[in-house]
Amino acid sequence: MSALQKVMGWVDDRFPLTATYKAHLSEYYAPKNFNFWYFFGSLALLLLVLQIVTGIFLTMNYKPDAELAFASVEYIMRDVEWGWLIRYMHSTGASLFFVVVYLHMFRGLMYGSYRKPRELIWIFGVLIYLALMAEAFLGYLLPWGQMSFWGAQVIVNLFAAVPFIGEDLSIWIRGDFVISDATLNRFFAFHVIALPLVLLGLVVVHLVALHEVGSNNPDGIEIKKHKDPVTHIPLDGIPFHPYYTVKDIVGVIVFLMVFSAIMFFGPEMGGYFLEAANFIPADPLKTPEHIAPLWYFTPFYAILRAVPPMFGSQFPGVVAMGLSIVFLFFLPWLDRSKVKSIRYRGPIYKTMLALFIVSFIGLGYLGLLPSTPVATIFAQVFSVIYFLFFLLMPWYTSIEKTKPEPERVTG
Ligand code: HEM
Repeated sequence: MSALQKVMGWVDDRFPLTATYKAHLSEYYAPKNFNFWYFFGSLALLLLVLQIVTGIFLTMNYKPDAELAFASVEYIMRDVEWGWLIRYMHSTGASLFFVVVYLHMFRGLMYGSYRKPRELIWIFGVLIYLALMAEAFLGYLLPWGQMSFWGAQVIVNLFAAVPFIGEDLSIWIRGDFVISDATLNRFFAFHVIALPLVLLGLVVVHLVALHEVGSNNPDGIEIKKHKDPVTHIPLDGIPFHPYYTVKDIVGVIVFLMVFSAIMFFGPEMGGYFLEAANFIPADPLKTPEHIAPLWYFTPFYAILRAVPPMFGSQFPGVVAMGLSIVFLFFLPWLDRSKVKSIRYRGPIYKTMLALFIVSFIGLGYLGLLPSTPVATIFAQVFSVIYFLFFLLMPWYTSIEKTKPEPERVTG
């Protein structure tokens, strides 16, 4: 017995190291037909780690103080060794996290990955998405630029639209009557510790649920239905390690090339990843000409603005915005189709999904623009389509004629 085997034996008698490695990597059988769309889960994991690590280094020089915050970010950019790199990694990472998560969610919609028995994987996913939005919103206040300040002002004021308790609620969130040093301090606490912990915990349960039922695949059929009678290994499964660890490395390398290209050559991405107005220190006395959230929030911002105020209150818009995410939770029960994957669905689902995506991107675009009467009409049409995708789903998925699913996974 080699020294290494002895050490492993010693550890295994006290901690299930080899058993965990086998259960989740070398003897975890994933469908053999994963395609491009299955890269985004591991990429999301990579980004989570990257954001946490770069965040820790930023925290070493950042000052969560309304008097010092803006200058401390400039100090990181100009004077701290490699500070610019750490900051650009973190800001590029934030936007690309959303790109990756949106593609990851879209894969779920295409292959029906939210359907039985993966409802909880999906629900944990939607919770991750909510936590990620909160994390990004809180982080955006920290540089204490004009957009940080006024963006937070607009969003926290939405809570003031809640009937009866709104005013108190918004003061409670800010810790003051306006966005102030108190707000910056609590947002910092939530951004650097509370929400990262929540995110990590949610990602763990997301993956535990995934490994309990096993991955779906582009055919949307269960590989556990056909097992080897002797070994009980799914006939269409391959061990996650080494097959998918190696495949995921390819995804990681391509992704890092895209990431580096953006970070080194255009970290502001024409104002989509870092807005010009945020290079001006926050000025509570001067509202910027046009306040728009970063691109990943704009679909919801457009829904908010599409709903007309009632009795001078924005509350209906706030409700619509909230519902646009709440509907995601119910997806597993709204979809009544006999098949999971888009490959075997009929033209109605494909059309509805295409319209949904067009509306989401359309809303995202409109949310970036100043509101005009024509833009509002478009936003209203897109919002209606967005909601009809969910509301009509039980109907159009049950009447639709589907193609027969194959017994075993294809190519
Ligand atoms: C920090 C963010 C996230 C991380 C790190 C993460 C991680 C992962 C990983 C590693 C997988 C397995 C590999 C793969 O199928 O691509 C996975 C699967 C899955 N994730 Fe996520 N995820 C995140 C966010 C989300 C969100 C926001 C949703 C949906 C709202 C979601 C829904 C799913 C579903 C349904 C599966 C199973 C897919 C299938 O088997 O076809 N995830 N996730």
